Amino acid sequence: MRTKVVAGNWKMNNDAAQTKDLIAALISQKKTSQAKVMIAPTFPNLVNAVEAVKSSDIEVVAQNMHFAANGAYTGEVSAAMLKSVGVHTVILGHSERRAYFHETDELLAKKVNAALENHMQIIFCFGEELADRKSGNHENIVASQIKNALFHLDANAFKNIILAYEPVWAIGTGETASPEQAQDMHAFIRKTLADKYGNDLAESVTILYGGSVKPDNANEIFSKPDVDGGLIGGASLKAEDFYAIVNAI
Ligand code: G3P
Repeated sequence: MRTKVVAGNWKMNNDAAQTKDLIAALISQKKTSQAKVMIAPTFPNLVNAVEAVKSSDIEVVAQNMHFAANGAYTGEVSAAMLKSVGVHTVILGHSERRAYFHETDELLAKKVNAALENHMQIIFCFGEELADRKSGNHENIVASQIKNALFHLDANAFKNIILAYEPVWAIGTGETASPEQAQDMHAFIRKTLADKYGNDLAESVTILYGGSVKPDNANEIFSKPDVDGGLIGGASLKAEDFYAIVNAI
């Protein structure tokens, strides 16, 4: 049985007071599903967020990290620094980092290696642009993103990797992928894993969908056999909406 996960990617939102208020509201929500719940505040808020969720089953996750252990990388944060404040999971490869910060598959492979060397869990993001989807090239794009950043790893490494398929054209647009589109791509991702590592590993990996998941569409998307939860942006910033999605698993 694969782990079900609903993770909230807060992106660049919420200052210290807003983080405190949102976490208090999240903790007060009633959870009726078996989903693991994760939230990803911004770096300045991680320490307080880890403290604030202590009384709950919510896990605090980082939105990014650098591959180096330390050094002349102004503005960056290392895996060890994240772990030193109680953060053990990190989002890597988000399309916004690929687009705005030019993160390549090769750079992401280095970040994946650093996170695994530091015994961190990874939520690894990937997904095609609208032009790729329209031209029918979406499976090739997704396969290359996964292979280039992850297929140098041994099978054991996947025990610490959660995959997140986020079609770029669905992120923040309200243009959610249909449940069928999500299922088709998740099944393709699982087959891509199986071709390299075998069916047992492919069946064990949690694959999340991200891209305009909302309370009114979560249940249909999560009901698909190869969708194991969601990576949520906008809807993660409202406690009631986020837990409506958590409870849709
Ligand atoms: O990482 C999740 C995010 O990219 C999805 O954003 O606002 O479409 O749920 P949103």
